[in-house]
Amino acid sequence: MGLLDGKVMIVTGAGGGIGREHALAMSKEGAAIVVNDLGGSRDGSGSGGTMADGVVEEIRAAGGEAVANYDDVSSVEGGLSILQSGLDAFEKVDGVVNNAGILRDKSFANTTEEMWDIVVKVHLKGTYCVTHAVYNHLKQRNAGGVIINTSSTSGLDGNFGQGNYGAAKAGIAGLSRCLAIEGKKYGIRVFILAPVAHTRLTEDLPGFEKLATAMNPALVSPLVVYLASDLAADHSGKTFFVGGGRIAEMKVVTAKGITKVEDGGVWTPEEIAGRMSAGEILLPE
Ligand SMILES: NC(=O)c1ccc[n+]([C@@H]2O[C@H](COP(=O)([O-])OP(=O)(O)OC[C@H]3O[C@@H](n4cnc5c(N)ncnc54)[C@H](O)[C@@H]3O)[C@@H](O)[C@H]2O)c1
Repeated sequence: MGLLDGKVMIVTGAGGGIGREHALAMSKEGAAIVVNDLGGSRDGSGSGGTMADGVVEEIRAAGGEAVANYDDVSSVEGGLSILQSGLDAFEKVDGVVNNAGILRDKSFANTTEEMWDIVVKVHLKGTYCVTHAVYNHLKQRNAGGVIINTSSTSGLDGNFGQGNYGAAKAGIAGLSRCLAIEGKKYGIRVFILAPVAHTRLTEDLPGFEKLATAMNPALVSPLVVYLASDLAADHSGKTFFVGGGRIAEMKVVTAKGITKVEDGGVWTPEEIAGRMSAGEILLPE
């Protein structure tokens, strides 16, 4: 008995890196997998079917069920076609892990419109396109489901040289939080991941080349299996840092702050400065 027996899961960008591990791990627990991958390079150029095909072969060789899909996540047609691959092969879909991604890193001053557009398109619009198709299928089926969206600490905390990527990843988190609220009445659970792993996206980060084992992408996927399974049936809308064996919830928090009732609620800048110094506005460090 597997935790995901009878489930059909789509994983986008599953031809390598973290997505491949999600596909293998969910297959091991009994899910049939749609292995989507455009098969391009890490900056989003090029395409090809060999990456997705390779993972499908791995899954089948281990006795699992999988079908390949080579669509670009970042068009509405691509999103619908990825869903259709699941319906054609397995007659239904129970969820998706939106994982496909690329990088075009540069300091903000040197970020061109092209670098901005393609990164926002693949990550944020891609998450919209696939999620929209899958969400509406789940809503129609009325049997619940799960949507797991891949954000990043770069979007949630910030990172030098990743303004385009961080904006897209923060947008994914915002979409996911709204969708968790909307999906509640249909039993559709939505989660946000901020993974860290040694993949082709990170292998040239300073110091990261030594962390291939400690930051193995396979260490991200057990959380995804848990979230996709009934073990997490009571959870939705949560964000998780995950990588290197660590799993930790991340949260946007609002301090108690200060509220003025007199003078129509209008603070003077000097009053704000005083209350700021008194530590009444900021969260504790
Ligand atoms: N590796 C990390 O430490 C890290 C950190 C934070 C977030 N992430 C995110 O995790 C996800 C997986 O990244 P990874 O590190 O495994 O990188 P990766 O490059 O190994 O995997 C990304 C996959 O997405 C595919 N892809 C790219 N554009 C696509 C498109 N338009 N349509 C379909 N497939 C497409 C690529 O072919 C590739 O196989 C990404 O969303 C990434 O931003 C990774």
